[in-house]
Amino acid sequence: MRLWGGRFEGGPADALTRLSVSVQFDWRLAPYDLLASRAHARVLSRAGLLTDDELARVIGALDDLDRACKAGEFRPMVADEDVHTALERGLLERLGTLGGKLRAGRSRNDQIATDLRLYLRDHVRTIVSRLVELETALMGQAEEHAETAAPGMTHLQHAQPVSFGHQLLSHVHAFSRDIDRLRDWDRRAAVCPLGSGALAGSSLPLDPQAVARELGFDSAAPNSMDAVADRDFAAEFLFAGSLIGVHLSRLGEEIVLWASQEFRWIEMDDAYSTGSSIMPQKKNPDVAELARGKSGRLIGNLMSLLTTLKGLPQTYNRDLQEDKEPVFDTVDTLLLVLPAVAGLVATMRVNTAKLAASAPDGFALATDLAELLVRKGIPFREAHEAVGHLVVWCQVSDKTFDELTDDELAKVSPHFTPDVRDVLSVPGALAARKAYGGTAPDRVREQLAALREQVDGQAAWASGS
Ligand code: ARG
Repeated sequence: MRLWGGRFEGGPADALTRLSVSVQFDWRLAPYDLLASRAHARVLSRAGLLTDDELARVIGALDDLDRACKAGEFRPMVADEDVHTALERGLLERLGTLGGKLRAGRSRNDQIATDLRLYLRDHVRTIVSRLVELETALMGQAEEHAETAAPGMTHLQHAQPVSFGHQLLSHVHAFSRDIDRLRDWDRRAAVCPLGSGALAGSSLPLDPQAVARELGFDSAAPNSMDAVADRDFAAEFLFAGSLIGVHLSRLGEEIVLWASQEFRWIEMDDAYSTGSSIMPQKKNPDVAELARGKSGRLIGNLMSLLTTLKGLPQTYNRDLQEDKEPVFDTVDTLLLVLPAVAGLVATMRVNTAKLAASAPDGFALATDLAELLVRKGIPFREAHEAVGHLVVWCQVSDKTFDELTDDELAKVSPHFTPDVRDVLSVPGALAARKAYGGTAPDRVREQLAALREQVDGQAAWASGS
């Protein structure tokens, strides 16, 4: 059941068939190919190339084929080269020779480019829904922990105390940008290649704009050669997917740390952690680790497609068949990882006491002390130096800032009068960072309210409302 046998005397070699066949992975495009076929049938009928009766029979057969595919009654066979061939076989089985009319004016080149766009635009909405669930899980924890002090880190060293909610929301911003990126991607992906034929358009009086509208695209492709050659939409999607992977990986790494004996910031729910086959006591953060690990294949998928595309002459080349597996794998991977990470985040228990106790560790209030001196008119350079000496004093005498006597304070610098103790409080340090974007719990709650509104909009977009 090849679509191209006419000019060949012998059949293809087995090795060619095995190399060439794509139906084992492109079969998932079948529902989209059928959508495009319905739109194409209507355009052929408006062009006078199908009678009303023929159109009704073709649409009826396409609907029945769709149903049969979904029910698993119609399946691709090894002999079907690709999804288009398999579906044409199904159409011929239902319509006889009439089934052969649908191929007029189109090519697998514009079909596959259209199918992949339809598939991706659909699945991107599902991915956004899963991202929204992860954002919602992070925001739920952030709401509960806006007030929870935590050690804020740079270089993985205690730096300044922060609200743990602020830290959780920092991840929401990353995922929110990912969603923005996908929505922006969608505008560029909303261009329909159907009607471009093999590469040059069609001599038949088709109506690409009408087809585009029917399939939910914003417009038809203005250049048929670009339309069949372009896979920017796939590469861009894979980049957006890679960056989501990188964000999941960074969150995953934090969760691995937080769950460790050394941190003990969180306790993972049993439902989202795993045990060891030898060590009975173990509770492992496999979800977070897999989230971190899967970023490798997401980035790999992007590299794979970019390398395939590089150096291809216009227009369609069979190399382009290699676009699908990386795209499908990225979709599958994201849809696998996102719900697991959302569940892990939603169910983890935050060890508030441990966080609060370690928030001032490592002299994390040193900056507050230096800034107090600045408010007293001392140049920051001098204040920085004086607090640095105080840290050394503490280290030598094995004390924390608030264990120092008035005498010791004064000995290190005359600037350290007893009232400096006023800023040596973690809640005070958090509340003081109250400018826009800062970690003060009030600002965190405002930030959360703004994010919730943003995420509502994202959820609405994903559900098409
Ligand atoms: N399976 C092909 C692909 O994925 C469909 C287009 C085939 N076109 C062709 N001229 N052989 O790219």
